[in-house]
Amino acid sequence: MAKAKATAFFCKECGFETTKWAGQCPACREWNSLVEAPATVSVKKANANREMCSSRPLTLSGVNLEDDERTRTGFEELDGVLGGGIVRGSLVLVGGDPGIGKSTLLLQVCKNVSDNHKVLYVSGEESLKQIKIRANRIGEFSDNLFLLCETSIGAIEDAITELMPEIVIIDSIQTMYMEEVSSSQGSVSQVRESTNALMHIAKGKEVSIFIVGHVTKEGVVAGPRVLEHMVDTVLYFEGDRNATYRILRSVKNRFGSTNEIGVFEMSGIGLKEVKNPSEFMLDGRPHDASGSVVACSIEGTRPIMVEIQALVAKSGFGMPRRTAAGTDYNRVNLLMAVLEKRLGMHLGDYDAYINVAGGMKINEPALDLAIAMALVSSYKEKVMDSDTVVFGEIGLSGEVRSVSQAANRVNEAMKLGFKRCILPRSCAESLKAVKGIELVGVASVRDAVNLL
Ligand code: TYD
Ligand code: MG
Repeated sequence: MAKAKATAFFCKECGFETTKWAGQCPACREWNSLVEAPATVSVKKANANREMCSSRPLTLSGVNLEDDERTRTGFEELDGVLGGGIVRGSLVLVGGDPGIGKSTLLLQVCKNVSDNHKVLYVSGEESLKQIKIRANRIGEFSDNLFLLCETSIGAIEDAITELMPEIVIIDSIQTMYMEEVSSSQGSVSQVRESTNALMHIAKGKEVSIFIVGHVTKEGVVAGPRVLEHMVDTVLYFEGDRNATYRILRSVKNRFGSTNEIGVFEMSGIGLKEVKNPSEFMLDGRPHDASGSVVACSIEGTRPIMVEIQALVAKSGFGMPRRTAAGTDYNRVNLLMAVLEKRLGMHLGDYDAYINVAGGMKINEPALDLAIAMALVSSYKEKVMDSDTVVFGEIGLSGEVRSVSQAANRVNEAMKLGFKRCILPRSCAESLKAVKGIELVGVASVRDAVNLL
């Protein structure tokens, strides 16, 4: 007799499981996020789970790491984000907006590693011809790369068993389905079960699998959040579709730190690594314009210089307009309030526009001082020296507070040939005097503005 299918309800946001439907998830309080899906972990899977780990307790020193050497992807930026290369048997989720370059990145990885490794690229979105057209733009491929247009996980598993590749790309998880699961393609339960099956393939056959996942407009991988709990590594590929640079960020990594980012540039022949993002961001900066200030921000462990632009102009209407592109709007309002109150500037009847040039999105408080100085520079029509770099957080009483990794930021400024650095006084005191760059410590916004 066929076993009656047990179903349960899962929260799309947090993965909470319950037997009864409700309008609101009891765990994360999200509305309308519960969806029905088969509940059971089948006996077969439970056994597979058991096979994955050795059944005998071992000492830590008894665990053999020799097989764990990593495969280089041919992109140092990607290797860094992965923690040193691709780990055997790992499952990596690559998320990002449509059209950001996920398929391109992974096809380029295939090209780089297929010189020495057998690679299988499974596409559920594009035909073989379309992949070929893309591949032609990227370059020459070796015969170690195999393509498969397939959406059934069962068929993919058979292909993997037959071919025994070392690296498999699944593009994308939302197009995959399992016959055993009755709901439609792309639904939460399909995505969850397919990922589960891929996890078992990865661990059982020791192949490294990359899964592509599209993100929803809220910025999470479509389908259940649980996906992120299931995989070993989660990478997000982000950037402005209109700007050429792309940032690869790891938000979870079982084999490395999540502090690394990789920077790429989309070109006519695929993605190119950007080894020096600061230079890239500052390219084309005006040298004697008011309202332009260079700031140093930290992404993960990497310093990145950006140009902050401000335009403060007399407002024609009663309600002044304020916009902030690339940074937090509320933070800009807060800084303007500090300038009004502490420096007595009358910004109430001025429009103010802030822009982080280059299309970067930065919400680090260390940008505060640069934003404030850019605003004052534009308001007073005073030009900031183009060889000065600024960083520091501003408090509500107008004090300039210290920020992390000051030495790192100063080094980056020096590397790019900046001559002066305006920074929080406490940071300046803790840093040794460095040759080649003048460190100007400031304790309040007033001190900083007087330097303009
Ligand atoms: P794609 O990898 O298809 O994005 P995703 O898989 O994340 O949806 O990238 C598509 C975009 O990249 C597309 O708009 C065209 C552009 N592109 C280039 O600019 N140069 C190239 O060499 C390639 C292959 C794509
Ligand atoms: Mg794609």
